[in-house]
Amino acid sequence: MEMDIYYFSGTGNSLSVAKDIAQEVKGTLISMSSGIDQEIIKTEADSVGIVFPCYMAQLHGLPLIVEQFVEKLENIDTKYIFAVATCGGFELVNALPTLRRLSKLIKSLGGNLTAEFTIKLPMNNLSYPSKLMNQNQNEMFITWKKKAEPMCELIISKKKNPYKLIKILFNGFMTPMYFFLRNFYIQHLRKTAQVGGKTKLNFRQMIPITDTSITVDENCNGCGTCAKVCPVRNIIMVDDKPTWQHTCEMCLACDEWCPKGAIHHWCKTNGKDYHHPDVTLSDMLKQGVIR
Ligand SMILES: Cc1cc2nc3c(=O)[nH]c(=O)nc-3n(C[C@H](O)[C@H](O)[C@H](O)COP(=O)(O)O)c2cc1C
Ligand code: SF4
Ligand code: SF4
Repeated sequence: MEMDIYYFSGTGNSLSVAKDIAQEVKGTLISMSSGIDQEIIKTEADSVGIVFPCYMAQLHGLPLIVEQFVEKLENIDTKYIFAVATCGGFELVNALPTLRRLSKLIKSLGGNLTAEFTIKLPMNNLSYPSKLMNQNQNEMFITWKKKAEPMCELIISKKKNPYKLIKILFNGFMTPMYFFLRNFYIQHLRKTAQVGGKTKLNFRQMIPITDTSITVDENCNGCGTCAKVCPVRNIIMVDDKPTWQHTCEMCLACDEWCPKGAIHHWCKTNGKDYHHPDVTLSDMLKQGVIR
């Protein structure tokens, strides 16, 4: 069995999960960033995995790069497809609706998302309540390691995951609540993209320009790490200072991997930085698009 595992990650959670799965199922790890310049993504593999973080789950959940990457996939009708969504909040209310949207997208392209997995890992986005930030991170990593083996067994045997029906029922039950939360996310995006309340821009148009509220301070030494680690080439160095090009994914990588802590995002409320402890900067740089 040949398996491709496509991943996207800003702070390493999804990358660490993708790496663990790839090792267990002997799959090939491929970054979604590497497909940015391609019109179509073709693979000979008979199984395909998609691993990514949830962003603004009740609004959409799928990072734009993931959506665009999946839309480019060819010949998916005969493939076994599984997806893993990592999230910092509750899996059922955050990762699950996101996976439902991914499933619909894949269906519209003629494929079938056979197995969906949700994993709670540390919340990297500090605009969420501090309770979510202060949870025991080690416990989360241990829980994932325990989940990994049975999950990979399912994947290897190309099975559906169990309890899908319970999840679908739960999702239906929560739908009215999601509707109210959408407004919260839209307000947050308008503020971050600095577009004002009367804007006609939809969320897909606002996300790329949220980089207008990223700032860089005097500790920047011009090393260019932020430009290299950005998964979508959204940063170029001008006179040894990073400048953002308005194709942002909101992934936080530039901020969290800056060695000088010089980059500040909209969500910095308590000065903490986060990236997955087992993922290194050089792991992250492999994700980057070739310059
Ligand atoms: C812009 C943004 C929005 C996010 N929105 C949510 C969310 O709605 N629900 C949630 O549970 N986690 C949310 N998160 C947290 C991430 O999904 C979570 O920490 C994920 O594991 C990060 O993966 P990564 O390290 O691979 O980038 C968000 C993170 C970012 C950066
Ligand atoms: S990574 Fe940090 S220190 Fe290096 S250029 Fe970017 S902002 Fe400056
Ligand atoms: S500019 Fe920063 S936050 Fe935006 S996509 Fe690049 S690394 Fe991620």
